Amino acid sequence: MPIQKLCTVAEAVRLNEFACSLTLEAEGMEPQGPDQFVHVKCGHSRLLRRPISICDWGKNRLRIVFEVRGEGTEWLARRKAGDTLDVLGPLGCGFQVEREARCLLVGGGIGVPPMLGCAKWTAGQSTAVLGFRSADRAMLTEEFQKCCKDVLLCSDDGSLGQKGFVDAQVRAVLEKDKNFTAVLACGPKPMLKNVAAVAAEYGVPCQVSMEERMACGVGACLGCAIQMADGTMKHVCKDGPVFDAEEVEWNV
Ligand SMILES: Cc1cc2nc3c(=O)[nH]c(=O)nc-3n(C[C@H](O)[C@H](O)[C@H](O)COP(=O)(O)OP(=O)(O)OC[C@H]3O[C@@H](n4cnc5c(N)ncnc54)[C@H](O)[C@@H]3O)c2cc1C
Ligand code: FES
Repeated sequence: MPIQKLCTVAEAVRLNEFACSLTLEAEGMEPQGPDQFVHVKCGHSRLLRRPISICDWGKNRLRIVFEVRGEGTEWLARRKAGDTLDVLGPLGCGFQVEREARCLLVGGGIGVPPMLGCAKWTAGQSTAVLGFRSADRAMLTEEFQKCCKDVLLCSDDGSLGQKGFVDAQVRAVLEKDKNFTAVLACGPKPMLKNVAAVAAEYGVPCQVSMEERMACGVGACLGCAIQMADGTMKHVCKDGPVFDAEEVEWNV
């Protein structure tokens, strides 16, 4: 059940020039599984909250990891330990995955943090493919290495790991071993579309976490509606952000 409360920042860490990690004291807000999100008020003057995935959690504790994109996340990045944040959550439906599952986890850019929750949830069994624009944007890679069987890195410019996009790595992994319970992916829509296509080609079920601009975050404003393959519309905030890849209409 989502609640709204003022959460104290327990720890604020800069991960690189662009990304920050905030650990929040958040009693009663622990998610039921990976990739639910919180809706965070970013300063008094900004009416709309910003949706950020829960990257990791423990008893009475949530962690969010985000990149600075605009005014809201820029304000958030200036928070320090002891500050309070107005947080609503946990919201949405995350990845449907059993703890004993062996998954291929795929994250691109700001889609990487929620996959850490999946990696910890399926501790030690999953393989992660993580893609960044360049080495200076890499984050959380050592934490993935601690809780994944294997971690493959790639970057658009070749400055980290394999040069190229994550879907090429996903293809290389599945070519050698299709025996995964599921492919779970989070990142920009073109990346998700390509990963979904590769997973379908190799016959592995795929779930994708969709990113859409949000206003209310709770299914009340229609701001985040996306089209499904069967012609219906669904809310990313309430029905998602995670959907079966086959449900999504990719060609819009
Ligand atoms: C379910 C979900 C989970 C997310 N998880 C993360 C995460 O873990 N880490 C992370 O770095 N980012 C995440 N994002 C993206 C993050 O919400 C945006 O980067 C952020 O809202 C940008 O706000 P801003 O004020 O800095 O930028 P601005 O561009 O100034 O924002 C202006 C408005 O647009 C909305 N908006 C802008 N970009 C996005 C976007 N990509 N998605 C949704 N709303 C947007 C904002 O809510 C705001 O109302 C997530 C988005 C969604 C939908
Ligand atoms: S953001 Fe309002 S319905 Fe989803």
